[in-house]
Amino acid sequence: MTAAPTAAAASKSFRTAGGRVFNFNAGPSILPEEVIKQIQEDIWNFRGSGYGILEHSHRAKFFDDLLAETFDAVRKAGEVPANFKILFMTGGATSQNYIVPMNLVTDRNTQVCDYLDTDYWSGRSIEDAKQAGFTTHAAFSGKDSKYTYIPTDAELKYSDPSKLAFVHMTSNNTIYGTEWFRDPAVPAGVPLVCDASSDIFSKPIDYSKYGLIYGGCQKNIGTTGATIVIIRDDLIERCDKSVPRMLQYRTMAKEESRPNTPPHFAIYTVCLMAKWITKQGGVAALAQKNKDKVAPIYKAIDESNGYYKGHSRPDSRSWMNITFRLGSEALEDKFLKEAAAAGLDGMKGHRATGGVRASTYNAFPAEGCRALAEFMREFQRKNG
Ligand SMILES: Cc1ncc(COP(=O)(O)O)c(C=O)c1O
Repeated sequence: MTAAPTAAAASKSFRTAGGRVFNFNAGPSILPEEVIKQIQEDIWNFRGSGYGILEHSHRAKFFDDLLAETFDAVRKAGEVPANFKILFMTGGATSQNYIVPMNLVTDRNTQVCDYLDTDYWSGRSIEDAKQAGFTTHAAFSGKDSKYTYIPTDAELKYSDPSKLAFVHMTSNNTIYGTEWFRDPAVPAGVPLVCDASSDIFSKPIDYSKYGLIYGGCQKNIGTTGATIVIIRDDLIERCDKSVPRMLQYRTMAKEESRPNTPPHFAIYTVCLMAKWITKQGGVAALAQKNKDKVAPIYKAIDESNGYYKGHSRPDSRSWMNITFRLGSEALEDKFLKEAAAAGLDGMKGHRATGGVRASTYNAFPAEGCRALAEFMREFQRKNG
C-alpha cells in the first residue's frame, strides 16, 4: 500500500538508476526496469505483428511460440528437471488450497493432509482444505508463538504415514518474514507440496524432495493473473476424473495450460522474467544476491538497540520480506510516510501484523536495500 507523502518529507530522496522510487510492495511488486521497458514496447507492437501483446489471440501462432518459449525459459531459469511439468493456472495461489487436495487425495474418508503452519497463508491453506471437506492436521503450528520461526525436523509431528496424502509447507512466509532454508524431512513416499508464492526462483530448489511446487507469479517471476504449478509427472494423473475438469492438473498438462483462454499477458511477463533470471546467472547467483542485499537492513535492525524490533527470530529471517516494528503505531505511521516521501514506498505491514514490511524480491535492487538501511539510521537519529 502507498503511504501519502507528507510535508515532513525527509531531506534525502532516493531513486533507482532509472529515476523511479524504490518499490517495496509485497505483491504485485517490482519488476526489473529492462523488463518494464520491453513490456512497454510489446504492448504497442508485439514482435512486429503490428499490434500489442494484450490484443493477441491465445490460439494464434504468435502465442503458440510464446507459450513454448515460456515453458523453455522457465525450465531453464528454475532448473526444473525433465520429470516435472510446468503448468499455468488461474485463481491465484489461494485456489491451490483446494485444488491441491482435490488432485492428491485419493480417498477422502481415510486420508489426511498434513500442514506445516508457519504463516497466515499456511493457516489459510488449512482452512480452505477443511472447508472443501478434507481432513487436515497441523504437523507443526507456529500460531501461538506468533509465527516467529521455522521449526526443526524434531518439532514436526506427522499423521500416520499410511494415511498421509501429502505434506504442505510454505517456503517463505510473506507476512511474518520467515523463510525455510532447508527442506523439511517428510515420511518416505509422501509428496511434499510447497507454496513458494513469495520465494519461487529466488534460490535453488532440490526438486528430488518435492512432489509439487506452486505460487502466484506476481512477486518473483512476473505479474498477477497466472499461478505457476510445477508438478512431478507421477502426480498429474492421481486425481479422480469426477473432479471438475478445469481443476484437474491432468487437463492443464494435456492442454499445455490452454484448455480455455489463459492469462496470456501474465504468462508473457513470466517469459521475460525467466529470461531475466537466466541473464542474472540463474537461481544460484540470485540467491547470493538476495542474501547479500538484505544484510544492511537486518544490520540496521540489529544495531538499533531495540529501536527497530524484527519480527522473525534471527535464525529464520527471510531474504524476501523483512518485517519489523517501532515503538508505537504513531511512530510507524511517521516512518512509513517519511520513507514514501523519500522514495522508499510500499512498506506498510500486512493487516495481520501491522508495522513495517520491506519486500525485496528478485527484481529489487541492492541500492534500494542500502537506501532503506540509511533511512532507518537517520530516522532513528532524528526520532530516537
Ligand atoms: C505465501 C503466499 N501464499 C499465498 C498467497 C496468496 O496468493 P494469491 O493472491 O495469488 O492467491 C500469498 C500472497 O501474498 C503468499 O504470499
